[in-house]
Amino acid sequence: MRVRSLIRTGIVSLLFASGYLHASEETLLIEKFQQGQYSKRGADSCLMCHKKNETVMALFDGVHGDLHSSSPMAQLQCEACHGPQGKHKGKNQPMITFGDNGNVSAELQSSVCLSCHQDSQRMAWHDTLHSDDQSCLSCHQIHTGQDPVLNRAAEVAMCSQCHREQKLDLNKRSSHPLTTPTQSGSMTCSDCHSAHGSMTDGSLKQVSINDTCYQCHAEKRGPLLWEHEPVVDNCTSCHNPHGSVNDAMLERRAPMLCQSCHASDGHASRAYGDDDSAFTGGQSCMNCHGSIHGSNHPAGKQLLR
Ligand code: HEC
Ligand code: HEC
Ligand code: HEC
Ligand code: HEC
Ligand code: HEC
Ligand code: HEC
Ligand code: HEC
Ligand code: HEC
Ligand code: HEC
Ligand code: HEC
Repeated sequence: MRVRSLIRTGIVSLLFASGYLHASEETLLIEKFQQGQYSKRGADSCLMCHKKNETVMALFDGVHGDLHSSSPMAQLQCEACHGPQGKHKGKNQPMITFGDNGNVSAELQSSVCLSCHQDSQRMAWHDTLHSDDQSCLSCHQIHTGQDPVLNRAAEVAMCSQCHREQKLDLNKRSSHPLTTPTQSGSMTCSDCHSAHGSMTDGSLKQVSINDTCYQCHAEKRGPLLWEHEPVVDNCTSCHNPHGSVNDAMLERRAPMLCQSCHASDGHASRAYGDDDSAFTGGQSCMNCHGSIHGSNHPAGKQLLR
């Protein structure tokens, strides 16, 4: 008997460790959801007990606490998100909770939001890597008048909490104006990316990397008489859009940048550092090949003018 109960305790702690008991609370909440016992008095019955909580009341400063026709307040109210009250009067029976410590999976949390927000903006939500382990609540807050992530001045810092590599890049010597959120002409991550996913690799808002860049660097689009193949193909063959220690956010400095592709063409193959050649010295290749993004000059085939 003793041995058996020990095994049982062992199993129980194993279940805790594996998250199974968490999952069973989720099962319970799903059942409760299916039973659909919504309270008759809506928010009023919730607020009987919850109105002293400032976080809860801040809901009414934001759009979800508004009374207009499509808002949760005009419908199931609190229960549109937290699920039907059922027998909940405190800890006796849980309600759906959100965020990192929420009692249902990230996927289910997001599905609550998507019940109203499954629109053209979020068509590709399930294709973004964010939907793997993150939920809408990794970025958004609900019980607040101003959701910080919707504030352009706060967005970059918010994304950078998780994206350390990009944070490092954007503080390098040359970068897009992402670190000066309050200045005019400043940018945010979502100028290029869709946080909700898109049909493009890297969840870009435009259909390709180059179309992303042309939004603001239209003069690079062409058409040009003489094109430089990698420019037409992909701006990031040479630039890191998040920033770099080199001028103009270049992945590498010239001549090494150029020689990563042109190591066997005529004079371009002269090794850097071997001599102080006119071809590789100083500002190097661009001294002569100044029209590196392509040329409209009749004699510009070699990108010299
Ligand atoms: C649009 C969805 C939505 C609606 C409607 C909503 N909530 Fe919430 N609630 C959330 C989310 C998400 C959180 C997690 C905190 C946050 O993101 O603001 C939360 C957190 C809470 C918490 C925990 C607060 C704390 O102190 O941490 C309580 C309690 C709560 N809600 C009660 C309510 C009540 C009562 C109502 C109705 C008056 C309501 N909620 C309406 C989504 C919602
Ligand atoms: C009879 C009082 C009572 C009523 C009515 C009530 N609650 Fe609660 N609720 C509580 C208590 C007590 C807790 C546990 C509070 C805690 O753990 O801090 C709680 C916890 C919660 C939580 C989890 C908060 C957290 O941070 O874990 C949510 C969400 C919640 N209630 C939402 C609601 C909603 C929505 C309604 C209305 C449908 C409602 N409650 C009705 C008393 C009540
Ligand atoms: C019952 C429907 C409903 C549910 C459920 C719901 N929302 Fe909303 N949400 C709305 C409506 C309505 C608006 C206002 C839209 C508008 O004005 O165009 C809104 C607006 C928003 C906005 C824009 C806020 C702003 O200040 O402009 C965000 C972000 C948002 N919701 C996120 C969420 C998240 C995250 C969840 C899940 C916790 C959620 N919503 C659940 C109906 C809902
Ligand atoms: C990685 C962070 C992130 C995640 C995760 C995220 N959002 Fe957003 N959301 C943003 C940002 C940034 C904006 C404002 C910029 C924009 O609209 O692209 C925004 C804007 C919104 C808006 C208002 C504008 C619009 O697109 O209609 C709604 C509604 C919204 N999000 C809902 C959701 C829902 C629902 C989920 C989960 C399925 C979600 N978001 C997940 C970052 C996020
Ligand atoms: C809570 C953490 C978190 C936050 C906040 C966050 N991300 Fe992410 N993001 C991730 C994770 C995890 C991945 C999966 C890949 C990885 O590990 O880099 C990811 C992937 C991405 C990708 C590449 C993926 C793809 O979908 O193809 C982009 C782009 C991205 N995030 C942009 C953003 C932007 C923009 C914001 C702010 C609006 C943001 N992220 C906020 C955690 C986060
Ligand atoms: C000027 C446009 C632009 C801005 C602004 C921008 N990105 Fe990117 N980002 C890109 C491009 C282009 C890619 C490459 C996509 C690809 O290779 O498919 C990328 C890739 C990524 C990736 C995926 C990296 C990988 O290894 O797959 C993440 C994560 C990311 N960006 C996060 C961010 C974050 C966070 C911010 C804000 C701090 C940000 N980006 C700002 C253009 C931008
Ligand atoms: C939302 C607008 C916007 C988008 C999209 C954009 N840029 Fe920029 N870019 C800027 C601004 C603003 C500057 C700074 C101009 C200045 O300082 O004069 C800049 C500067 C640059 C510079 C010069 C940096 C320096 O230090 O001299 C390069 C290179 C560049 N962008 C490449 C790209 C590439 C590659 C893409 C696409 C992945 C891209 N940009 C997308 C707005 C944008
Ligand atoms: C073959 C490598 C290469 C590719 C591909 C490339 N660039 Fe550049 N880019 C450079 C070099 C080198 C410089 C620095 C020029 C200088 O110092 O004279 C530069 C400078 C820039 C600048 C700042 C100076 C200026 O000309 O305005 C911008 C903006 C820029 N590139 C945007 C782009 C965009 C957008 C694309 C894609 C359409 C792109 N680049 C593709 C090599 C490249
Ligand atoms: C990602 C690879 C790549 C990089 C990096 C690159 N190029 Fe090119 N470049 C090409 C390709 C491919 C062609 C077209 C080759 C052809 O038509 O034979 C080309 C063509 C050229 C031409 C015209 C040759 C001709 O006869 O038409 C010149 C000049 C040139 N590149 C110079 C440079 C310089 C200078 C740099 C550095 C700033 C550079 N390239 C960086 C791939 C690259
Ligand atoms: C002193 C001026 C000058 C410098 C510096 C220079 N080039 Fe050239 N390049 C030329 C001229 C002139 C031509 C056309 C005549 C020819 O074919 O030699 C040319 C032609 C080319 C071509 C066309 C194919 C070929 O080899 O004939 C490529 C590719 C090229 N250069 C790449 C480079 C690269 C990469 C660098 C830097 C390592 C560089 N150039 C530095 C003047 C220069």
